[in-house]
Amino acid sequence: MVETSFDIELIRAQFPTLQQKVGKYPLVYFDNGATSQKPKVVIDRLDQYYKLENANIHRGVHYLSQISTDNYEKARKSIQAFINAKHDHEVIFTSGTTDGINLVAQCFGTLLEKGDEILITELEHHSNIVPWQMIAAEKGLLVKYIPLLENGELDWDQLDELLTEKTKLLAFAHVSNSLGTINPAKEIIKKAHSNGTKVLLDAAQSLQHFKVDVQDLDCDFLAFSGHKVFGPTGIGALYGKEDLLNEMPPYKGGGDMIKTVSMEKTEYNELPFKFEAGTPHIAGAIGLGTAVDWLSGFNYNEIQQYEDELLSYATEQIKTIDGVTIYGEAKNKSSILSFLIEGLHPYDIGTLLNQQGIAVRTGHHCTQPVMDHFGIPGTIRASFCFYNTKEEIDLFINALKKAVDMLK
Ligand code: ALA
Repeated sequence: MVETSFDIELIRAQFPTLQQKVGKYPLVYFDNGATSQKPKVVIDRLDQYYKLENANIHRGVHYLSQISTDNYEKARKSIQAFINAKHDHEVIFTSGTTDGINLVAQCFGTLLEKGDEILITELEHHSNIVPWQMIAAEKGLLVKYIPLLENGELDWDQLDELLTEKTKLLAFAHVSNSLGTINPAKEIIKKAHSNGTKVLLDAAQSLQHFKVDVQDLDCDFLAFSGHKVFGPTGIGALYGKEDLLNEMPPYKGGGDMIKTVSMEKTEYNELPFKFEAGTPHIAGAIGLGTAVDWLSGFNYNEIQQYEDELLSYATEQIKTIDGVTIYGEAKNKSSILSFLIEGLHPYDIGTLLNQQGIAVRTGHHCTQPVMDHFGIPGTIRASFCFYNTKEEIDLFINALKKAVDMLK
């Protein structure tokens, strides 16, 4: 066992999905970068909501609607505490990271003028590239990027040169989903601010691994997905500083985002409701609140140390296989292991691993510019969570060796 003070067996026992077999093999779930599994407490919370509490929110004076509204708003406060936002109205429920980034691109983007610049990086997930290209095309903005280095780190030395008086926003991933690189967010945000540039942090791959404090980082926006932090799918949150959110126009029009509507004009609601048109994913928000409360019960230093040990062990073991190339060897790296085996297609490896109960992701991981940079079509990605074990890594390495023998 990897040295740890938390009881892995007790943690694993909370995850029904992890108890299953794939054919005769125990399920080894190493696709945590795509989505995390759900602890029973979250599943039970969703069950309770639909069995006992289901009602629409902010609209009814009746018993169930009041319970539902209270629990939905309580979940917002859980997220506020989780990321240490100053106000609960700075937390907007979205459908996930993609939705949060699109909201900022559309609403903050509307405030920009032709010729203004958005700075992103070559490491981004498509969801932090395409929304900027879309608003750039609409408004005549310029999208520039920080280039990637061979070890998977970004060439932040170019930041000073790329930040101009026209750079209105810098948007970058806290952690790369395809290479695991952890970007030095606090330092970069400080530099961007000294240029008067606002910053959006894509935290889809960070909050499940280490503590993220929006006031300490001083980011202007932060987007994340519920399903990657042990919560339900289809729900996430966008944090935004109050003054910026107030300055931005609404995202979608509809119910709940208005104060008054006449046939001539509409007066918008205050934060956070201005950005939450229509019936939201009430159960999802409540489930996400439960998930982040559950996660907050752990010591993040222990999580990080344990996951670092899993990553080091897996990296060491995989290097014993002939023809392996690891993509992403940043000094500061999260528990993501992306690799290829010379002469073998990632999809074939993924299929043979699946036949032995091992779940990994293969492909470009929605980061085609990263793959283009390395001149490869994709990688095999094993992404670890703190409910994984060293024994599972042994199963993975043995299964991988078998797959390689079969294919070579
Ligand atoms: N963005 C998710 C991943 O990296 C889906 O797998």
